[in-house]
Amino acid sequence: MLPNTYFYGVGEHTGHLNKKATHLVNWNTDNPNPHNETMDRLYKSIPFLITMTDGEAYGIFFDNHFETHFDLGKDNVNYYYFAAVDGNLDYYFIAGPQVKKVIEGYTSLTGRMPLPALWTLGYQQCRWSYEDEERLMEVANTFREKDIPCDTLYLDIDYMRGYRVFTWDNERFPDPEAMIKKLNGMGFKVVTIIDPGVKADEDYDIYKEGIEKGYFATREGQVYHNEVWPGDAVYPDFLNSKTRHWWSDLQKRMVDTGVSGIWNDMNEPASFKGPLPDDVLFNEDGHMADHRETHNLYGHLMAKATYEGLRKHTTKRPFIVTRACYAGSQKYSTIWTGDNQSTWEHLRMSLPMLMNLGLSGMTFCGTDVGGFGFDCSSELLSRWVQVGAFTPLFRNHSCMGTRDQEPWTFDTQTKDINRKYIKLRYKLLPYIYDMMREASQTGPRLLDRFYLIIKMMAIHMRLMMSFYVVKIYL
Ligand code: NOJ
Repeated sequence: MLPNTYFYGVGEHTGHLNKKATHLVNWNTDNPNPHNETMDRLYKSIPFLITMTDGEAYGIFFDNHFETHFDLGKDNVNYYYFAAVDGNLDYYFIAGPQVKKVIEGYTSLTGRMPLPALWTLGYQQCRWSYEDEERLMEVANTFREKDIPCDTLYLDIDYMRGYRVFTWDNERFPDPEAMIKKLNGMGFKVVTIIDPGVKADEDYDIYKEGIEKGYFATREGQVYHNEVWPGDAVYPDFLNSKTRHWWSDLQKRMVDTGVSGIWNDMNEPASFKGPLPDDVLFNEDGHMADHRETHNLYGHLMAKATYEGLRKHTTKRPFIVTRACYAGSQKYSTIWTGDNQSTWEHLRMSLPMLMNLGLSGMTFCGTDVGGFGFDCSSELLSRWVQVGAFTPLFRNHSCMGTRDQEPWTFDTQTKDINRKYIKLRYKLLPYIYDMMREASQTGPRLLDRFYLIIKMMAIHMRLMMSFYVVKIYL
């Protein structure tokens, strides 16, 4: 490592764009504490590094899905290293010298984001939770009444019957099909959350079928249990191709109700009763692999099963959002950076995080606009929407118990700023769509990602300036 060697990529980590002098760990982790720069691991593992010395870049893709480490000059200023707790020393050296060539090489190995459907690039509104049909319709109507464009509404975990995946709570949502039809008629798509944890309940058909057919992870010869939202729960064995096919076909239940996209959450996998022990086993079509080997692949394979299910059961380009992933997940899913907070610090942090994710092959990424945890303020929401309008995934989301942060929930000025920037996003959609097409063919490019933001800001400035010129002229 030379004094002027800098480091980029390595997936999702907090901190600066240049990762020099840090030690990064890849072990998918759902840590509920507010993200800060001292956290060495988050939800995603992408063991792909770009180094740059004197403007010349090369990449290293360390294809090892055990817990991996990248020490980028923290131990010693004279060298950097990468390591894993187990598995093969299986790595690829990708020549540059331009960063875009490195990313082209990396994405030719691991795959590229398929061109997303146009509607997924519009503004999206989420909330934990729009708790019933009445509230969801109120939000939808308010967007239309206030002339604020929005293409997508999300349903978080409370739409389900007791958090049983692939079910609806029919008291809160008496006729989901009719409701979604109505929303579609108003120009909205609906995306529902699906977590991996299956409620352990003898009267629940999905649990029963999974048990009968051996679709769940095991420990010491028994199905392994832990706890997530539904309480006592079991984990689908996504390493097993039969489980994946089953899960793909379960998507049909959502598709038949009119759902347009699926949001995969808690798939690190999260567990409320301590981490999964090392000896939880997954059946990779005959090869029994333990949790240490499979943990970082879990979200990736869940997204793959979901993608294949949506592709099979719709005639449309699938839209999946996942929280956990591994190198190559860009083939199947969009990502977001999980549970950020409504703070200025997290708004600042979102930019290097998203850029490094883009540099790690994850073109289609975003943060929770307005921040997830903690209460948003009017100015923070305005500023975040002004940034979010230029990021690939543009989704406002917030945690239960926090104040509302839909575009109109503060004051007229905030609402107007939100509307203005959301509309600007829509003006730029043809351009963004072109950029996504290019990325789907070449892999995302560093300069394009920067230029995307810079160019869009320049267009915005020009629009503003011509507006003032016209005003002065008049
Ligand atoms: C955790 C996710 O990160 C968050 O976005 C979601 O709202 C909650 N789970 C509840 O589903």
